[in-house]
Amino acid sequence: MKATHKLLFVLCPMLVLVFIYYSSGKLHLRVWGQKQPPVSEEIVSVGRIVGSVFDQQGFLVNLDGKLMNTQAQSEPSLDRPLNLVYKYENLTTTTCKPGYAAAKMTAIYPKFVQPAPMFLDRNFKRLAKVTNFVPPFGFKTQDRIIDTILTATKNYGLGPELDSLSCKRCVIVGNGGILANKSLGSRIDEYDVVVRLNEAPVNGYTRDVGTKTTMRITYPEGAIQKPERYEKDSLFVFIAFKPLDFKWLRQMIFKEKLQGTEGFWKSVARYVPREPSEMRILNPYFIQEAAFQFIGLPLNNGLMGKGNIPTLGTVAITMALHNCDEVAVAGFGYDMNTPHAPLHYYETVKMSAIKESWTHNISKEKEFLQKLVRADVIEDLTKGI
Ligand SMILES: *[C@@H]1O[C@H](CO)[C@@H](O)[C@H](O)[C@H]1NC(C)=O
Ligand SMILES: *[C@@H]1O[C@H](CO)[C@@H](O)[C@H](O)[C@H]1NC(C)=O
Ligand SMILES: *[C@@H]1O[C@H](CO)[C@@H](O)[C@H](O)[C@H]1NC(C)=O
Repeated sequence: MKATHKLLFVLCPMLVLVFIYYSSGKLHLRVWGQKQPPVSEEIVSVGRIVGSVFDQQGFLVNLDGKLMNTQAQSEPSLDRPLNLVYKYENLTTTTCKPGYAAAKMTAIYPKFVQPAPMFLDRNFKRLAKVTNFVPPFGFKTQDRIIDTILTATKNYGLGPELDSLSCKRCVIVGNGGILANKSLGSRIDEYDVVVRLNEAPVNGYTRDVGTKTTMRITYPEGAIQKPERYEKDSLFVFIAFKPLDFKWLRQMIFKEKLQGTEGFWKSVARYVPREPSEMRILNPYFIQEAAFQFIGLPLNNGLMGKGNIPTLGTVAITMALHNCDEVAVAGFGYDMNTPHAPLHYYETVKMSAIKESWTHNISKEKEFLQKLVRADVIEDLTKGI
């Protein structure tokens, strides 16, 4: 080998490494526009607090900004970091604030990295964080069936109109009884993206829950079973908890006859009156991130286990934090102190009927949601969290 070749041989990998190093640094800055103030160091340098100011999950312990009162008034306070004040001070409350939810989230949770696509697309194997986990935390072992499904759906976004918005406000409508008789329907309809969960009905409840449904996030056992109850113009967004669920989705997309319902924990829809182009697969990263990063549920070797599955509502909020500029929720929170209150807005089942859940950890999940509300990352329209 000639000397110049040898030199190139050594130089090339080095250049690549240098490039990766700098581009990752740039990327970090570009995503957030401005550098966040180094919150923890500032506090420590005040000299009053020793040790970590972040909790086990990596959230700022004091979300109310009281710690910063020890500093000069001109300093930014924790709940109003300087760059946020600067960027949003002159926007009225009715104007969509670009990047607001993500900026607020980063202020209380510096580990937050925003880009994560809402739905899987044909290039889904690039999503490294989910290739190593089996469902529900990833899609390992499911690559081929997902390929088949995505070849049929051919669409991987919210649609041209919503995708082209420079600022999106999203609302996640939970199914809680707290939504009943609050007449929030028109308020909910004002959002660009309205997310509903499973079989939560709209007809007959529009005064309280609105009329618009951008998407309905569903797993087989939670899907609407009566074809006539599916609303037009909404995306059927699929979320998988077990490998069998992908098989069900394939059958729904190709309008195949469902062979048996063994393996499902309750009856499932046998027909989904939706074109393949109206169906999407939710990025399973949101289940993984909600469970292990945000809530801190047991990893259990990356397998579904006791108390390590976040509720669908929290998964939807996680998705919205990555993909919406502003995030609101309604119909979240169980009021355990009033056992006679309705559990869901559309049923007479009472709060007292709720059983100790094997899959969810409601109390731990609530701690996470409360952090988001207290720090104003999300707005809780029904104030149940
Ligand atoms: C907000 O308005 C005030 C008063 O008009 C102005 O001084 C300030 O620069 C504005 N801030 C931003 C971020 O535009
Ligand atoms: C809502 O109002 C209706 C009619 O007044 C009533 O029957 C129902 O019990 C109310 N639901 C809740 C949860 O308060
Ligand atoms: C929920 O989490 C708490 C704290 O980690 C734990 O003590 C409790 O056993 C968990 N509950 C369930 C149902 O897993």
